Amino acid sequence: MKKINLLKVSNLCVSVEGHSLLKNLNLNAKTGDVIAIIGPNGAGKSSFLKTIMHHYAFKVTKGDIKFNNKSIIKANTDEIAKLGFFYLAQNPMELEGVKLIDLYKIIANAHSDKKIDPISLHNIVTPKFNELNMDLSLLKRANNVNFSGGQKKKNELVQMFLMNNNVLLLDEVDSGCDVDSLKIIASEINKIKKDKIIILISHQEQLLKQIKPTKYIIVANQTIAESGNGANLFKALEKGFGKYAKSTANKIEMDSLRDVF
Ligand SMILES: Nc1ncnc2c1ncn2[C@@H]1O[C@H](COP(=O)(O)OP(=O)(O)OP(=O)(O)O)[C@@H](O)[C@H]1O
Ligand SMILES: [Mg+2]
Repeated sequence: MKKINLLKVSNLCVSVEGHSLLKNLNLNAKTGDVIAIIGPNGAGKSSFLKTIMHHYAFKVTKGDIKFNNKSIIKANTDEIAKLGFFYLAQNPMELEGVKLIDLYKIIANAHSDKKIDPISLHNIVTPKFNELNMDLSLLKRANNVNFSGGQKKKNELVQMFLMNNNVLLLDEVDSGCDVDSLKIIASEINKIKKDKIIILISHQEQLLKQIKPTKYIIVANQTIAESGNGANLFKALEKGFGKYAKSTANKIEMDSLRDVF
């Protein structure tokens, strides 16, 4: 029988560099849910996902995050990853000197009971590269170094498939991808979504239309300003975010500017 995972965020309050960034965030997700996070630039969408992964910059000042009814708020990033969480970064990290194929080998070995041989790795990676329309010559290059925007996102997706994790936090998986790649990425996500919890940050209506999230939340004014089921997501996108006051980002930046002037 399929295992149903549960992610519950309750009353989460987060600060960054001593300033309040997010307040009273609540979210419930179970396997099969695809939750779209939308909202203005700088509202704290990426920060929310990074907080779930226990990024060192974000301090939880109140609230809890539970996975399968156990708090993960004190778990470190490595432990959270081992629980099956994957974060696809908005700005993927470059690793100078680490060849893509070597990174894939490390990931595949870490997620397998036995050591993976080169042919098996080839048989996993090559079809994914073909599906994502990626050039195999990237395998010899350093991870994300001088990759185009789309190449970076597709590389992160290959890593996601190698890990086969249960909770996928996808931060603008579409950014930098051309219109054909968007379709491919959406179809790849659609193939796996019923077995995963997916939280998807995106500004791209096209991608959201193809993936059809089950729920959406708007992060604005430091909190969840609006939420609803997937059917209403596109109405919310059409309305835009103008009705929400200036984002937290502005407040933080103005506060810190006091020292500058
Ligand atoms: N590590 C950090 N240290 C200090 N401030 C940060 C850090 N990370 C994010 N911020 C600030 O927190 C605010 C929220 O940023 P975040 O990246 O979460 O926004 P976002 O909603 O994802 O925006 P976008 O749609 O542009 O990606 C911004 O003002 C950002 O500059
Ligand atoms: Mg972001």
